[in-house]
Amino acid sequence: MSATIIDGKAIAAKVREQIAADVEKMQAEHGIVPGLAAVLVGEDPASAQYVRMKRKACEKAGIASFGHTLPVDASQEEVEALVKQLNDDPKVHGILVQLPLPKHLDEEKILSMISLHKDIDGFHPINIGRLAMKGREPLFIPCTPHGVIVLLEEAGAKLSGAEAVVLGRSNIVGLPAAMLLIHRDATVTVCHSRTKDLPAVCRKADILVAAVGRAEMVKADWVKPGAYVIDVGSNQVEDPSSDKGYRWVGDVDFEEVKEVAGALTPSPGGVGPMTIAMLLKNTLRGAELVVSGRV
Ligand code: GUN
Repeated sequence: MSATIIDGKAIAAKVREQIAADVEKMQAEHGIVPGLAAVLVGEDPASAQYVRMKRKACEKAGIASFGHTLPVDASQEEVEALVKQLNDDPKVHGILVQLPLPKHLDEEKILSMISLHKDIDGFHPINIGRLAMKGREPLFIPCTPHGVIVLLEEAGAKLSGAEAVVLGRSNIVGLPAAMLLIHRDATVTVCHSRTKDLPAVCRKADILVAAVGRAEMVKADWVKPGAYVIDVGSNQVEDPSSDKGYRWVGDVDFEEVKEVAGALTPSPGGVGPMTIAMLLKNTLRGAELVVSGRV
């Protein structure tokens, strides 16, 4: 049996179309154009590429985007001053500080300085704290894990009562993905480098979310037949047959796993486009908070 391929590009395109329509309506009715400010510290090529993609997607949806690049040796004070300036700027409804930051910077302090109602990444300690608790509503949900949930729902996965296994415990993906799955009544196991017999734990999963950053680690015999598999990984591997000398692969061995899983996202073309779509959605929400007078 071959898995249904969950087309993240198509699902994200549908979400983006709706956002573009809502942005146009907001401008017509309230004269407000949602605005996103992206802060990049340093010149890490992958981070710079992600920021470019996010800004381009904003522009396509009619969202204003403001780029701020600081040098790799920018001081804590400089980054904090920029965040304060963006907090005070009425044209900015969402602030994104691209992670990881250079090691000398205090990431927790910088993220905690972003105004709660502009925290479109959902990484502010209060937003993450609310996400971690029952019956509390964060203003924003982190984009990648939110995209994972939308993909599962669009693919028809039943989350309530499902055995879900999340591979990876990062602040950006693994931990918030686990919390979102718990809120939807899945029974969740979070795996990491010290987990014993990883393949056996993964094989129990009706829903498997791979977010470890290890190229093609998840093999066919790690997957329960019929499982929903979401591949968050994006890893560069050498490929002499390609013009660039490399290609991108996920954390899941796509060719093997598609013969066992019930549904599977490709990487690229699965979670990546959804992360961007969710970021646009959160930016629109930031502007809606202003329009509705909540902030
Ligand atoms: N680095 C990798 N993923 C993300 C993300 O979703 N947001 C930010 N700000 N940085 C990231």
